[in-house]
Amino acid sequence: MKFMANFKCNHTPSSIKAYFDIFNAYAFDAGFFDKHEIVFFPPFLSLGAALDFAKVGKIGAQNAYPAQKGAFTGEVGIEALESSGVGIVLVGHSERRALGESQKLLARKCEVFAQAGFSVVYCVGENLAVRKSGMRAVEAHLREQFAGIDSSLPNLTIAYEPIWAIGSGVSASAQEIEQTHAFLRSLTSAPLLYGGSVNAKNAREILSVKNVDGLLVGSAALTPQGFYDIIQEGVKAEGIKAEGAKAQK
Ligand code: PGA
Repeated sequence: MKFMANFKCNHTPSSIKAYFDIFNAYAFDAGFFDKHEIVFFPPFLSLGAALDFAKVGKIGAQNAYPAQKGAFTGEVGIEALESSGVGIVLVGHSERRALGESQKLLARKCEVFAQAGFSVVYCVGENLAVRKSGMRAVEAHLREQFAGIDSSLPNLTIAYEPIWAIGSGVSASAQEIEQTHAFLRSLTSAPLLYGGSVNAKNAREILSVKNVDGLLVGSAALTPQGFYDIIQEGVKAEGIKAEGAKAQK
């Protein structure tokens, strides 16, 4: 399973150090990292601190520009990320789409970073109006967010994050997640994450849903204890899923 923490525009280099002072001390079972993946997406100015202090998990960038380097003021390119040891990028978060990133640019980011050997976590998700219009509308919207995306790119992960569930305290229901992930599975064989108001109370149920391979967590992962609790609850879903798969045979 994959557990990813998106810190958004939170945490400073010193608070990141304090975060990992605590997170590093949590005991993970032997073999945990053979079976599960933990990724942190700190803001750019805290990437260095995270790379220095995180003893567990991988560090990714919340955004990046699809060029090696050059005259792109305010952007961060491949060379800078690679030389810092960052190998994962988040692309297409709804908060970046809302700032004006086009589907064309996002498709280019996915392609360029995947070709450069990065793991790409590509976010998709509908707003409340689309969700209220029914599953057909949701499917049409998600299909549009795959425009230009080669869904068989190496090391691609898809994160389904309904915009209405992000930061709202109300996650999508298990049924909504199941239906939507079944549709996404028909578009790609990439691992599928769910994100949107995930917390320690709902992590286990959400990860028990078919075709949910991991979680992308915002607010509830801002404290080390919060994220650790989610991971602990989430791994319990594994047994539930294995039982479900056995029962279906
Ligand atoms: P949230 O954010 O967990 O605070 O809803 C998730 C995200 O935006 O990735």
